[in-house]
Amino acid sequence: MTLSERLSEYVRAAFSGIWVQTSEQDDAMHEIAQLARQNNWGLASWDIDKGLKLNGWRAEDPVLSSAPDPLAAIKSLNALATPDGTALLVLRNFHRFLGSAEIVQALDSAISKGKQDRTFVVILSPVVQIPVELERQFVVVEHDLPGREQLEQIARSIAMEPGDLPEGDALDLVLDAAAGLTRLEAENAFSLSLVRHGKIVPETLWEIKLGMLKKSGLLTLHRGGETFDDLGGLDALKGFSRKALGGSHRGAGVRAKGVLLLGVPGTGKSAFAKALGNETGRPTLVLDVGSLMGSLVGQTEERTRQALKIVDAMAPCVLFIDEIEKALSGVQSAGDSGVSARMFGTFLSWLSDHESDVFVVATSNDISKLPPEFSRAERWDGTFFIDLPDRKEKDAIWEMYLEKFGLEIKQSRPNDRDWTGAEIKSACRLAALLDVPLVDSAMNVVPVAVTAGESVEKLRNWASGRCLSADRPGLYTRGSGGTPGRSINRDPSVN
Ligand SMILES: Nc1ncnc2c1ncn2[C@@H]1O[C@H](COP(=O)(O)OP(=O)(O)OP(=O)(O)O)[C@@H](O)[C@H]1O
Ligand SMILES: [Mg+2]
Repeated sequence: MTLSERLSEYVRAAFSGIWVQTSEQDDAMHEIAQLARQNNWGLASWDIDKGLKLNGWRAEDPVLSSAPDPLAAIKSLNALATPDGTALLVLRNFHRFLGSAEIVQALDSAISKGKQDRTFVVILSPVVQIPVELERQFVVVEHDLPGREQLEQIARSIAMEPGDLPEGDALDLVLDAAAGLTRLEAENAFSLSLVRHGKIVPETLWEIKLGMLKKSGLLTLHRGGETFDDLGGLDALKGFSRKALGGSHRGAGVRAKGVLLLGVPGTGKSAFAKALGNETGRPTLVLDVGSLMGSLVGQTEERTRQALKIVDAMAPCVLFIDEIEKALSGVQSAGDSGVSARMFGTFLSWLSDHESDVFVVATSNDISKLPPEFSRAERWDGTFFIDLPDRKEKDAIWEMYLEKFGLEIKQSRPNDRDWTGAEIKSACRLAALLDVPLVDSAMNVVPVAVTAGESVEKLRNWASGRCLSADRPGLYTRGSGGTPGRSINRDPSVN
């Protein structure tokens, strides 16, 4: 639903306090003005700089009072009331003034009275910060980021000549790149692209979008060239994700949600998530859960919602949340008075309910720190366990890195019992760096399965019968996975 549709519903239902959360107040104002005109509603707007204006916000709109007095602005609502009409008073950035007891009280009265008078207080603000006294007086409406259709409209309004805007599949790429930008940002990006390249191209849009994500500080866009070919093994996981994102299922209305990857450190979980986007032609957004934590009350949830909104708008995309247990470890502790629990709740409901085409890849190497609701099967399309690679997988990984680091393929290899992909990679890297044979460089590699043997064992036992195997189809079970019936080697003489 658009902002106007939601607003007109609330106005008809006589919700006389409406809080519009928007990062584009001019655009929201424009929509509200249009709606008011269509319905013959009275309209006035106030901000501290321009004062009270009739009808809207444009320079030519008549000024009723230029007083920078927020209290007087609320009182002016009375004057707007007509015997049988509806009137809206839009207060811009009014969250700034809600620290004052007088203003809170005046708003309270105005909104209560508005139910009979059909006068409405509409607050435009980038955040939702409603004082407790007014919580029940306001409904919150989110002013969504523009959808594809609207972005296309904006692009068409900016493209002047035929050829400025590509058509068909190339247009889709442009719109993909523009998704997640505000109307103003999109407008600027389209114009910049025209100036720079003489036509609208996705590259400029990606650049603007990167800047936008950086500014928000919540998400980053991963730009790397890795593909599945850079990862040895993990065949079941690769095949599963490829199929899930393949497209043929779209007709049935089923959309992939994502996978939870549990595994031993250094087995390629993060590397897989980074390759998936390239493999499926989607941008990969990295969510830094630590950055969601705010110091003010309500800030964390606000940021979580904001981040998820951006993610939704960037669809189709991959959302990568690395080491999710670190962020959520507060959930079970009482230390942060429930902040991470609420953030987690917001995230979980989004995970189950989101309708946008976002494929989530979350990784963890300690499931015991995750709340049990998290790994429940219906939240994910699959929960995969990535064990230490088996002989065949290790051989594939050796070959890959020997070649990559320009090393002699046929040289003798060290004992790689209980090694992960990360360890094979570092042995090869060291051999290239120090210009020594692999058997020598391998002496500097201590496998994590040895240093963290116990937790690896715990992980395997937990995963057995609960998770899918990442390297062969079906469930992972102790003894049938990558390392059949073997226990972790703790004998130092082997290395
Ligand atoms: N199967 C593999 N094939 C090729 N490279 C691999 C493989 N597994 C791991 N690597 C390499 O090892 C390094 C570490 O891998 P990665 O960061 O993905 O591990 P991880 O499973 O995320 O570990 P952690 O749990 O510690 O975060 C990466 O550079 C990755 O390319
Ligand atoms: Mg990792």
